[in-house]
Amino acid sequence: MKLFDVYPLYDVNPCRGKDVYVYDDQEQQYLDLYGGHAVISIGHSHPHYVKSIKEQLEALAFYSNAVQNPLQQNLANAIGEQSCLHDYQLFLCNSGAEAIENALKLASFHTTKKRIIAFHNAFHGRTSAAVAATDNPKINAPLNKQQAVSFVAFNDTHALETEIAKGDVCAVIFEAIQGVGGLDEPSEEFIYEMENICRKNNICLIADEVQAGFGRTGTFFAFQKYKITPHIITMAKGMGNGFPIGGILVHPEIKAAYGMLGTTFGGNHLACRASLAVLDVLKKERLQEKAAVLEAYFRKRAAALPQIKKIKGRGLMLGLEFDFEVAALRKKLIYEHRIFTGGSSNKKLIRILPPLTVQEKHFDYFFNALELALKSNG
Ligand SMILES: Cc1ncc(COP(=O)(O)O)c(C=O)c1O
Repeated sequence: MKLFDVYPLYDVNPCRGKDVYVYDDQEQQYLDLYGGHAVISIGHSHPHYVKSIKEQLEALAFYSNAVQNPLQQNLANAIGEQSCLHDYQLFLCNSGAEAIENALKLASFHTTKKRIIAFHNAFHGRTSAAVAATDNPKINAPLNKQQAVSFVAFNDTHALETEIAKGDVCAVIFEAIQGVGGLDEPSEEFIYEMENICRKNNICLIADEVQAGFGRTGTFFAFQKYKITPHIITMAKGMGNGFPIGGILVHPEIKAAYGMLGTTFGGNHLACRASLAVLDVLKKERLQEKAAVLEAYFRKRAAALPQIKKIKGRGLMLGLEFDFEVAALRKKLIYEHRIFTGGSSNKKLIRILPPLTVQEKHFDYFFNALELALKSNG
């Protein structure tokens, strides 16, 4: 049987990982500054993470959401403590898109409306409503195009107000720092205006933290740079360090009802133990605090390279913008310097999303390699 060929692949076969490195089938070492799409938060195969999952696997891997699973409450308590969002309610699922799908559905239940406002360049996933709220017509099938979605630009308060005045909007969904879109951020002023408009019109504000969440940007969630209170927060990626898990945090204003949301695998025992281990390590190793410090070092090194036109992002969710397309440069970094980086829909931008255990010496290695690669890039 052939694989359904939807992914253009780099010719690398990682077989094991340790902290910020992965090793291919020839034991060749690669520095991972991409974390497999921002997924690896506490480093590959962290010993505490491996031990926790192993112990859970030997005890019980899975039982359904028809019985008690105290690990879910433990996880809710730990997320509440580390994010300081004690009053929110946790619903667990399996991926980023599923978190978005549930957030949008909940907003629609809550408001009894159905149109979504999303932003230019947004990426929210590949499932039904999530992909409809993603600003990329190429990955939307006719089925997805049935959803009612309007896109507005960041910082265009007038456009947002005009759309909302039509009276049929259930949710405004935003990334405080765009991931796939290329690290653009709304202004602080717009963030507060957006919250205000949503509150005034009883519309759910959804913070998509699938990529930025769990400490990556130096605050637990990226939106927490501001004093806003979203109705729903979506999470996935770094939450499980590679174990598939996603979830939403729901403001106490929104009430649950039996059957409103549900999933077979969501919140299973293994996934909860994986995420609890991630939170243990984030706290013990102070990784969120370190992200802010490392950003300063990264920016200092980047500022010394004149080919870099702009440094974008926050914490360890960063982008380097050039005045040329970076696909060839990224290939050089992989095949000649053994460094993984990320691309984005902005073709001139390299995305840097390392495990949060990355150190200055790894950035030194990267910038030395980048300098060489730029010299030979023509
Ligand atoms: C901001 C954001 N939301 C949602 C998603 C979808 O997550 P998943 O790929 O786990 O479905 C992504 C994936 O890149 C993302 O970056």
